Amino acid sequence: MFIRNDWYIAAWASEIGSKPGDKPLGRKILNEDVVLFRDQQGKVAALENRCAHRGVPLSCGEIVEKGIQCGYHGLIFNSTGACVEVPGQTVIPPRSTIRSYPLVEKDQFCWIWMGDPAKADPSKIIDYPYHNDSRNWPHKHDMYPIKCNYMLLIDNLMDLTHLGFVHKKTIGGNARVHVDAKMDTTRKENGLHYVRWMLDCIPPPTYSKSVKFGKERVDRWQEFELFVPGAIVQWSGATDSGTGATEGKRDGGFSLRLFHGITPETDKSCFYFWSAANGYRQDDPAATEQLFDEIAITFKEDWVILEEQQVSLDRYPDRNYVEIAADGARTHANKVIARRLAEEAAESAKKSEPAMA
Ligand code: FES
Ligand SMILES: [Fe+2]
Repeated sequence: MFIRNDWYIAAWASEIGSKPGDKPLGRKILNEDVVLFRDQQGKVAALENRCAHRGVPLSCGEIVEKGIQCGYHGLIFNSTGACVEVPGQTVIPPRSTIRSYPLVEKDQFCWIWMGDPAKADPSKIIDYPYHNDSRNWPHKHDMYPIKCNYMLLIDNLMDLTHLGFVHKKTIGGNARVHVDAKMDTTRKENGLHYVRWMLDCIPPPTYSKSVKFGKERVDRWQEFELFVPGAIVQWSGATDSGTGATEGKRDGGFSLRLFHGITPETDKSCFYFWSAANGYRQDDPAATEQLFDEIAITFKEDWVILEEQQVSLDRYPDRNYVEIAADGARTHANKVIARRLAEEAAESAKKSEPAMA
């Protein structure tokens, strides 16, 4: 079960073809097959990935002047899903329109709405202006297709005590420091915000490789905000110990921003859209590359653990699992998602009730 009436990231804008002859992008989202392309006016569009003629996926076709052309017998559909051309005849058959989905390009993402189109309000899409600020936040991005339920990835990002174990050679460092971090959590209606402080600690390898700290020890923070169903924004860094990071003086050390976008593909797989922005040596493209490479290794460490976890959960579906103190944020996130699912279920049950005479 997935929350449907909300925005999910369908793709990076750069993944979507636009020129006649380009391949459209086929992707399964929330168990539905969609095809993504950009029309000749430059607008991105999402349609069901199934031709109205004989059902061939439109992602096997190509982008043309008038829209997207099926690769089998050449029917063309525009960005609203209307069939606009049938080779060899002038009449467009009735019922040849296919489903279209609201799709909005913003901050280098394409956000899709899989629920009731009448409810799709683009002003509800979160802002991530750092993707448009290459001077202060130069960044690189990627997408990992992970074979696990999307909730496992949200869980992973809600409990950072894993850093000292899964990522001890990269961004994590000493496990004790993570387990003992002071964590302030603010629960919100549609997610949560937390900040974790690791004061007067040795910086992890990624940090000390990237900047020269003035002291041997640093004050380190990790700030996360979750927006259900699948966006998490992160700001992390460190400055010389005792120089005021906790009071907001966070310039001059190491600082990065990560975006984590999580979109269910199926019940057992999801897409992990992420970007890493360099907030410490902005004029040095090699630093942005190095950061990206380090984060890529880090997230691949998560990828391995999450897929193993999914296999194991499938093997023992009836086991009960214990909660520990570190599960607080994860538990709240799970509750918000469960509440949203229940609200949607109640709404659709109400809609399907027979009208009173
Ligand atoms: S199946 Fe698409 S044109 Fe025939
Ligand atoms: Fe991780």
